[in-house]
Amino acid sequence: MAEKEKIEKHSTGESLLHGLFRMIQVVKIHQSNNRLFNDILIDFKAALDDVWESGRPAAFSLYRGRFFLNDERIVYSPSMWATSTKMSEFFIERGINGLKFLPKDELTNEELVSMVDTLNQAKRFPDPFEWLYNQFDSKSNWVVPSKDEDRKISGSGAQELSEGGYKAVVQTEGLPGAEQQARKIYSQALTVLRGLVDRVTAGKKAGVQKCKRIVQELIDLMSDDWPLYLALSTIRDHEDQIFTHSINATILSMAIAQRIGYTKTATEQLGLTALFHDLGKAGDFKSTADKSDSLDNHDLAVIQNHTLGSISRIIRLNASFNLKLSLLPPVSEHHLGVDKSGYPQTGRDNELSLSGRILAVADQYDAMTSWRPWRNQTLSPTDAIKEMTSFSGTLLDPLVLRLFAEIMGPWPVGSLLILDSNELAMTKAVRPGSSPLPPAVLLHQSQEGGLLKGSSIELSECDENQRPKRQVLSCLSPVSFGIQPTDYLI
Ligand SMILES: [Fe+2]
Ligand SMILES: [Fe+2]
Repeated sequence: MAEKEKIEKHSTGESLLHGLFRMIQVVKIHQSNNRLFNDILIDFKAALDDVWESGRPAAFSLYRGRFFLNDERIVYSPSMWATSTKMSEFFIERGINGLKFLPKDELTNEELVSMVDTLNQAKRFPDPFEWLYNQFDSKSNWVVPSKDEDRKISGSGAQELSEGGYKAVVQTEGLPGAEQQARKIYSQALTVLRGLVDRVTAGKKAGVQKCKRIVQELIDLMSDDWPLYLALSTIRDHEDQIFTHSINATILSMAIAQRIGYTKTATEQLGLTALFHDLGKAGDFKSTADKSDSLDNHDLAVIQNHTLGSISRIIRLNASFNLKLSLLPPVSEHHLGVDKSGYPQTGRDNELSLSGRILAVADQYDAMTSWRPWRNQTLSPTDAIKEMTSFSGTLLDPLVLRLFAEIMGPWPVGSLLILDSNELAMTKAVRPGSSPLPPAVLLHQSQEGGLLKGSSIELSECDENQRPKRQVLSCLSPVSFGIQPTDYLI
């Protein structure tokens, strides 16, 4: 990928959200006659006009942390992640899920400034939404806040939500060939897995040929470009987490299998197992998975039953009996500890399969580093491996875990690092057989508050006194900051 920072073209939705964010920030320090502020106001009005020209209002809605413009999900460019997270917090603090700008003939700078001032002030009131609603109702007739947009989105917007999710993680425009190909494979994997899950949950026949082809393509990518292959496992998507989690567990399981020396056929089989290991989580399970409060006993029972759900769905797949039989042991074991703790308890005393132990490690790592609605904190890649080490010999196999830790290195791919050079970087991958210190890419703050991709660096690079040029101060979870690592890695 070119080292030069990307120049991004913002969509109308992005421009409006970005413009609103900038106005909210700048109004606190500048008067409307300030030149910078004036430019921001002009840009925002131009973006509003783009929408109004069609005779429609410009209606933002916030649904599960994602913004929509007129029910169409806004697909962000990389620099917009931080802005979108801050705007999402801004909406939540004011108790609003929607903000509609009705078409208006003459919109003055003063009216825009007054709108932004009102939005900023609302946080101080006990019921910010009600205060905002009354203020806009009495002062202006062109801005309407709302707090019911999530229900509206669940209708036609639900489709947009899913498709938008895919767009967000698999944009390939402008990428070099290998990286474009890698994202395409991931995109196909999402489409194929979603199609299979739709059929399975609807009780229809579902074949596995397309899934086999995806697994084979991933294996080819692994042998062609190991760093790129591992980087793909950092793709996260909140709404489609069951699918991205399954694909990431597939990538990581096959990486461990390759190091152990699995044959290609055995690796393929493990890949399919990982792809299907959480099939029991699709469908009705989702309402439990999406719960934002802590889980009660009933929820835990539902979660623990997903292993049996996966087994029953695998049995119903349209595939050969032998293939299905080979997938079942690791799937049934992926939450069972090597000390026989975990679930589901079957009372049997035989050893877990090696594939089951590999899948358990890959599964735990992706789960710990991914966002979950009921959990306050997402672990950084480094903390996840530390946490997993505390389960060595109980839930997780010590040797498989050690091998996985070696593959990922001290700063696994997709780690957000704060460096003592006052720089922010993201690790790219560990080179097999070389220094454990990985190459990384620097991240720069853009003027708008987002993050831009900078130049590549070597964390192992030393100065003339043979001292490391940069030391890592801390490792953070990109997910906690709304950052999609692949936007900077691939
Ligand atoms: Fe599971
Ligand atoms: Fe899982």
